[in-house]
Amino acid sequence: MSRSGLTAPEFRARKGREKLVLVTAYDATFARLVEQAGVDAVLVGDSLGMVIQGCPNTLGVTLEHVLYHTRCVAAGLARTHLIADMPFLTYQVSPEEALRNAGRLVQEGGAHAVKLEGGARSAAAIRRIVEAGIPVMGHIGLTPQSVHQFGGYRVQGREEAAARMLIADAEAVCEAGAYSLVLEGIPAALAREITESVPIPTIGIGASPHCDGQVLVIYDLLGLDDEFHPKFLKKYDRLSERVRAAVRAFRDEVRAGTFPDEEHSF
Ligand code: KIV
Repeated sequence: MSRSGLTAPEFRARKGREKLVLVTAYDATFARLVEQAGVDAVLVGDSLGMVIQGCPNTLGVTLEHVLYHTRCVAAGLARTHLIADMPFLTYQVSPEEALRNAGRLVQEGGAHAVKLEGGARSAAAIRRIVEAGIPVMGHIGLTPQSVHQFGGYRVQGREEAAARMLIADAEAVCEAGAYSLVLEGIPAALAREITESVPIPTIGIGASPHCDGQVLVIYDLLGLDDEFHPKFLKKYDRLSERVRAAVRAFRDEVRAGTFPDEEHSF
């Protein structure tokens, strides 16, 4: 990553050169930490519906929710490329509405780019937003906003016909002007085929190492949810255990009267 952080054209130009590393963040504290760790971009995902709001899916997340968290994250970042997710129904109704909502995420939220789900069906919205000068990241495969249509969080594109449709979707997103594309929950061979056939970087989540980069939800990679262990997820820590241990230690010291001690008193 350059010292000043990646612009959208620089992000795009990384295809075939160096893998891109993305994580989600929802607040200034984590934004600061992941920037210090050297990620290439931060995504304010609508996954906030699950990890912040405690909902079973992303469908209840509104533009105001993403705007609020994008502002929080922007306040914690000094230079890192910042992408804001477009929630369910903020880009599907019309390209004009999609542009207005994307514009708010940039203008009021401080995002450098927006992400939206869907292939051919979202091409008109992507084109309209890109024409107005806002970089768009596409997202195809297991798109969580379609969970009810899929009948659950199931790997997509396993059948030949479904795989062909996803390849056509990737092409439609590229042709509409997207600068990158998230591939979520698809077989490795299909991820490789799409990655080799499109001119923009693919960012995988549950989509094999063949993608040009990878993204994970920050709370997932830190291991903050003991109950969540899908096959695609590698937990790089067991932070849930360490959070409980630290809070237990605080509880015990307060109850024992050993905190605050002289060192922590005025
Ligand atoms: O909402 C989100 O966090 C996402 C990424 C995991 C791709 O869409």
